[in-house]
Amino acid sequence: MKERENFGSRMAVIMALAGSAIGLGNLWRFPYLVGQNGGAAFVVIYIVATLVISLPIFFAESVVGRRSRANCRGAMERLAPGTKWKWTGLLMVLTPLWIVSYYSVVGGWSLEYLIQSLRLEFVHNAPEALSGSFEQFISRTWAPVACHLVFLLATVTIVALGVKSGIEKFSKVCLPVLFVLVVVITVYSISLPGAQKGVAYLLKPDFSKVTLGTCLDALGQSFYSLSLGMGIVITYSSYVSKEEDLLVSGVGTAVSDLLFALLAGLAIMPAVFAAGIQPGSGPGLIFDTLPYIFAEMGLKMPWISSIAAILFFLTILFAALTSSVSLIEVGVAYLTEEKGMKRWAACVLLFVLTGVAGVLCSLSFGPLSGVKVLGLGIFDFADTVASNVLLTLGGLLVVLFVGWKMGRPEVFDEFTNGGTKKLNAKCFRFIYFLIRYVAPVGVAVLFVSNLI
Ligand code: PFF
Repeated sequence: MKERENFGSRMAVIMALAGSAIGLGNLWRFPYLVGQNGGAAFVVIYIVATLVISLPIFFAESVVGRRSRANCRGAMERLAPGTKWKWTGLLMVLTPLWIVSYYSVVGGWSLEYLIQSLRLEFVHNAPEALSGSFEQFISRTWAPVACHLVFLLATVTIVALGVKSGIEKFSKVCLPVLFVLVVVITVYSISLPGAQKGVAYLLKPDFSKVTLGTCLDALGQSFYSLSLGMGIVITYSSYVSKEEDLLVSGVGTAVSDLLFALLAGLAIMPAVFAAGIQPGSGPGLIFDTLPYIFAEMGLKMPWISSIAAILFFLTILFAALTSSVSLIEVGVAYLTEEKGMKRWAACVLLFVLTGVAGVLCSLSFGPLSGVKVLGLGIFDFADTVASNVLLTLGGLLVVLFVGWKMGRPEVFDEFTNGGTKKLNAKCFRFIYFLIRYVAPVGVAVLFVSNLI
């Protein structure tokens, strides 16, 4: 049997996991959720939810992946042979494929906006002329579909190159570039006149308006952002060698993800305030309002504004790509290991399946806008089912599996690399307590409230 690939180093592991975590969730979803939930208080709750609930689930998924050294379905079969847990594994193979179908549509939008910024569209148009252009673009038939397919093709090409030569290399180059780009945009955004209000909005919490809904949104976002409940962490951890430290890679990933979310907030909110736009304007926030800001800035400083626009949409595109790669890899690992398919053949198959599903999602803003599933358009239905049901269900099942089905000695063994690494007993007891009690209760509340 062909030997299984591993990531090359600890840094490569963190880069790949962080590349998956840092994506549209940080740059597109986080800023608009902050805007809808009143600012800094949401950010504080989001940080706490990440550390107390999401990080323990991340650890649980890493334990399953590294211990089994298999794809999600195979992992459950190895750790609990002949039980119904295999269905949890299958659920986690299907969820990311479901997600990538509409995620690549949004990835396609960022590609289109990058092309528009390269053609200097934002600075050549009067700001008012751009109003409604986002809705106009997504409701077209061919252009968004073509962008979605190009984005998806780029994704599967990287995955087809393999774990080391594709995913690892791409993440190692992309992530540092991404970091530099976000920092540049943040500096630009904070320097805009009137930006201070946006900075204060992000950093000065007012807990008087916090509701249960705010807390659930924050928890849901931290879950989404760390790529939990959909087999990604299990699959990537199965490529982590037995010498690596799971605690270090988990904390490294969570901290980079948090840092990026905060940087993205600092890049976007000050610009939104500087332009006098409502921060709570919803999912269209970055696509709708930032071109307007670039166009307005372009009236005074066309070159700086053009470069800022290009950098901005390039950042979104890179971030989306490193995440969509991880979504596809889950299915590819399953097809190659369980069904004996060649890597490239699995990539072609998944390109066709998710490509077709994505076309339907894309068309649901245009020609298929009349088609409703449970009262929602196809894209919204796909997103709602994934974010509200599939992710939380997957996360809940895995954390229950590690906390209650796997034995404590096995979990300890995985955290200490078979007893070769020292781990403070109190520290392990605390993490195990979070995995066994706190995280399941937190996700169960999220799951039930989402269903309601
Ligand atoms: N964690 C990535 C992001 O925040 O964009 C990838 C991802 C997670 C995509 C969850 C989609 C999803 F539902």
